[in-house]
Amino acid sequence: MSAKIISGTKIAGQIREDLKKEISELKEKHGLIPGLVTILVGDDPASKIYVGQKEKACEKLEIYSRRIDLPPETTESALLSLIKELNKDAKIHGILVQLPLPKQIDQQRVIYAIDPSKDVDGFHPVNVGKMVVGEKSFLPCTPHGILELLVHSGIQTEGAEVVIVGRSNIVGKPLLNLMIQKRPAGNATVTICHTKTRDLSFHTKRADILIAAIGQPKAITRDMVKDGVVVIDVGVNRIGKTPEGKLILAGDVDFEGIKEKAAAITPVPGGVGPMTIVMLMKNTVEAAKMSL
Ligand code: GUN
Repeated sequence: MSAKIISGTKIAGQIREDLKKEISELKEKHGLIPGLVTILVGDDPASKIYVGQKEKACEKLEIYSRRIDLPPETTESALLSLIKELNKDAKIHGILVQLPLPKQIDQQRVIYAIDPSKDVDGFHPVNVGKMVVGEKSFLPCTPHGILELLVHSGIQTEGAEVVIVGRSNIVGKPLLNLMIQKRPAGNATVTICHTKTRDLSFHTKRADILIAAIGQPKAITRDMVKDGVVVIDVGVNRIGKTPEGKLILAGDVDFEGIKEKAAAITPVPGGVGPMTIVMLMKNTVEAAKMSL
């Protein structure tokens, strides 16, 4: 058996087409152009790439985008003042501060400073709380993208054993909360594994759906999964460069080893990544609609 490859690129493209229609309707009917600001503090190469991808996605959809690059030594109070201004800026409907932030800045304080109605990352505790109780809110983009991948691929989650490896605030914790809910791509029995899990393989082998968000290349190997598993790989790890200088990426999962055993698997790149970006666009359009 060779796994079905779940193409995030293709599914994100379909969602983008729907968004295009919504955006042109907003423009025609209300003269409203959704606006997103991305703030990058410092010069982390990976973060630079991610912010660049978000800008490009805005361009493609004719979403107004503003990029603010700040030096690594930026103070917390300077960043908080900037956010205060952007909260009041009528052209801006979504504010995204790329994480991680430099050490001198308290990440949580920055997240708290963003107006929850502009928090298109879904990181503000008001949005996190709403998400946990199943109220309408901005959902964090990567978990939301994973839910959409599962729905669009026709993967049944009801009653499924879902094992998530990784307990971050950005991926693992929100996914756990969403997938236990009575909602599309929900109704699952969810286990979270993390660095202190005693026997990781014991859990991963039980998974009908395995979601890896570890941040270590090829950490999940063929012997750790059962036949017919569905694998969602959230990892984007740089493992080298081609002679031409192009980055070589690997997921958290040993794709080549597992694809013969799995029923379906997401590739890296082209799996979860494009979904994260298109869900950010969707949240930005949602935020613009809320401003009407
Ligand atoms: N860093 C890694 N993932 C994300 C994300 O989804 N949003 C932000 N703001 N920073 C990140």
